[in-house]
Amino acid sequence: MSGQAPFGVRIAGTGSAVPSKVLANTDLEQMIDTSSEWIVKRTGIHQRHILDQEKGETTLDIERRAITAALDAAGMTGSDLDLLIVASLTSEMRCPSNACRLIEAIGAQPAGAFDLNAACCGFVYSLNIADSLIRSGRHRAIGIVGCDTLSRYIDYTERTVSILFGDAAGAAVVVRDDEHPERGCIYQKIEADGRGWESLYMPRREEDVPPGAPESDVRMGYLRMNGREVYKFAVSKFQYVIEDALEQTGLKVDDIAQFVCHQSNIRIIESAKEKIGLPDDKVYINIDKYGNSSAGSVALCLDELMQQGRINPGDKVVFVAFGAGMTWSSSVWQV
Ligand code: UT7
Repeated sequence: MSGQAPFGVRIAGTGSAVPSKVLANTDLEQMIDTSSEWIVKRTGIHQRHILDQEKGETTLDIERRAITAALDAAGMTGSDLDLLIVASLTSEMRCPSNACRLIEAIGAQPAGAFDLNAACCGFVYSLNIADSLIRSGRHRAIGIVGCDTLSRYIDYTERTVSILFGDAAGAAVVVRDDEHPERGCIYQKIEADGRGWESLYMPRREEDVPPGAPESDVRMGYLRMNGREVYKFAVSKFQYVIEDALEQTGLKVDDIAQFVCHQSNIRIIESAKEKIGLPDDKVYINIDKYGNSSAGSVALCLDELMQQGRINPGDKVVFVAFGAGMTWSSSVWQV
């Protein structure tokens, strides 16, 4: 982290992409027993974007659009990257990784490429890993894509998960900065606890379903969630990761330009805001437009904040996420 290497790490460019199809709450009202009013009150979500599979839209498409935009913003091309990390639990195939297919699409070979599955934490995990690899001196320019297209794994007859998730991709290009050693990740946390994994999982076979799990109509291969359990976990972890990041860095809320939080449910974010005393203008919210886009969420927020000029060189930014596994992560940057 900062101070350990004679150079810094800079976020050189960001990008994002969402699929063209919009699934509004009013559309869901026609599909399941719910109401737009309930969804807005309980989650803050008005609509989400999902892949238009009839038009052949794919996960790789939005990942390619996001990383291409990030490279353009950085004034770089694929061939400038020496590593590409794709944080996702919804890559097209088990093998090869989407990262390998993406380096082909953007002409980045022979850059290293791998997919990373840390569920909704994937992009924050990847920011931490990229910073550490650059500071090790082994890499100079790393592309990170956070993307999930959970619409492919959602049973749209089940009302708990179908209202929550949307598809999105966000990307960042992080590079070694020889001029500014103070830039980059100041503090990072990558943690997980496998106990409680059955609160949020995607069984492939009957044998994957844990003994004692409640009866479920959700088909094999589709996402199952115990919303209340995840909610309780999320509320306490969100507060913990933010307080830990502030405590360990000695930074105060006033020192931070933005808290870029996983868009899980507006009530989870509001709870952390209230308990820690975070002002509205420092906690970006876009869950109303995109729903919970898992590994895409923090990356998409980062890109929108950059586009709006709300994160500027020298600013201190706290990224936080939690997700299935269960996983949680923070990354504090001087950008
Ligand atoms: O990124 C990490 C992934 N996941 C999360 O962050 C999810 C965390 N959990 C949540 O966001 C919330 O638990 C949900 C939004 C999923 C559900 O909200 P909730 O306030 O926890 O609802 P609940 O499960 O406690 O259910 C309350 C009531 C129940 O009815 P009864 O038993 O009180 O009669 C549910 O059957 O709301 C009912 N309900 C619904 N009603 C209308 C559950 N889903 C719906 C729905 N529409 N879609």
